[in-house]
Amino acid sequence: MFTANISSKPPQRNDLPEDLFSAIEELKKELNAVILAHYYQENDIQDIADYIGDSLGLSQQAASTTADVILFAGVHFMAETAKILNPNKLVLLPDLEAGCSLADSCPPDKFRAFKAQYPDHIVISYINCTAEIKALSDIICTSSNAVSIVNQIPENQPIIFAPDKNLGRYVIEQTGRDMVLWDGSCIVHETFSEKKIVQLKIQHPQAQILAHPECETSVLRHADYIGSTTALLKYSQQSSKTEFIIATEPGIIHQMEKNNPEKTFIPAPPKSNCACNECPYMRLNTLEKVYLALKNKTPEIIIPEATRVKALKPIQKMLVMS
Ligand code: 13P
Ligand code: SF4
Repeated sequence: MFTANISSKPPQRNDLPEDLFSAIEELKKELNAVILAHYYQENDIQDIADYIGDSLGLSQQAASTTADVILFAGVHFMAETAKILNPNKLVLLPDLEAGCSLADSCPPDKFRAFKAQYPDHIVISYINCTAEIKALSDIICTSSNAVSIVNQIPENQPIIFAPDKNLGRYVIEQTGRDMVLWDGSCIVHETFSEKKIVQLKIQHPQAQILAHPECETSVLRHADYIGSTTALLKYSQQSSKTEFIIATEPGIIHQMEKNNPEKTFIPAPPKSNCACNECPYMRLNTLEKVYLALKNKTPEIIIPEATRVKALKPIQKMLVMS
C-alpha cells in the first residue's frame, strides 16, 4: 500500500544543475527515455513532458512507445500500468511514495473476499487500482471509456465495478446497468463543496461547470459537462463559452490556460479552507525528482511476474475495447 509522505526528504540543491530543463533533455537523449505526464503534475513537469494525457491516453502511449526508459510523471498505479505493458523497459517514478487514496481504498485481500460473494459477476476495475486488483479483474477501464466498456457487456452479465463508487454511480446512471459497487473514493474529488460551487456560479452566471466523474453526485448534478481530464480539456477548447468552473484537480488548468489564453478558468472550491483540491500524491513529484530519477535510474517500478501476467490481460482487453 502506498501512502503520501509529504515530508519525504528533498534533494540537496548542490546535487542539481542550474538548468534542470536542459539537463533533463540531455538525460532523455542519453537514455532514450520518454517522459509521460498526467495533467495533475506541477506546471514545470507538464512543460518538459513528451506526452501529457489522461489515464487512457497515457496507457496507450505506454503500450506503443519505442523508448528504452519510461519516466512516469504521475502516481504509482499509472507507472505500474506502464510496467505491466513493458516488462523489459526500465520504468521510473520520480517519487515512489506517490500513491493514490482511491487505489489504497481497495486492499486485495478484502476485495478477493468481496468478489467471492458474487461468483457469477465479472469485475470491471477503474485503472486507479493496484496491480494486485488488476490481476483480480476481467476488464480495466478509465474515466474516458467506462461507459462505453460497460455498454459492450451483454445485458444478462452481472458486473462488479471497483474501486470508485462515484464513477460507478455515474456509469450506472449513464448505462442503466445495475452494477455492484466497491465502496472506494478519491480524497481530492470528494473535497469539492456543492454549496460553494453554487455560490460561485451565482457570482459567475455565464460560467460553465466542468466536472470529473470521480466527484460526488451532489457536485455532478450541477455540471454542464462531465468527462475525463482530456475530455474536459477538449470541451473547454471547443466551447464558445469563455468562463469555466473546474471541478477536478487544478493541475489541468495549466493546459486549459495554455490552449485558451483568452478564457477564464476558476478552480472549484474545497469544503474547507485548504488546498485539498490538489492531489497530495501527484504533487510529490517535482522537476528535481524527475532529474534525479533519470540521472540515478531509480526509483524503479518492479512487479512480481505472476501478478504482472495476470494484470496484463484486463488491460489488453481495455485497449482492444477502446
Ligand atoms: P483521468 O485523467 O483518466 O481522467 O483520471 C483522473 C485521475 O484521477 C487520475 O488519478
Ligand atoms: Fe488518486 Fe484522486 Fe490523486 Fe487521482 S486525484 S491520483 S484518484 S488521489
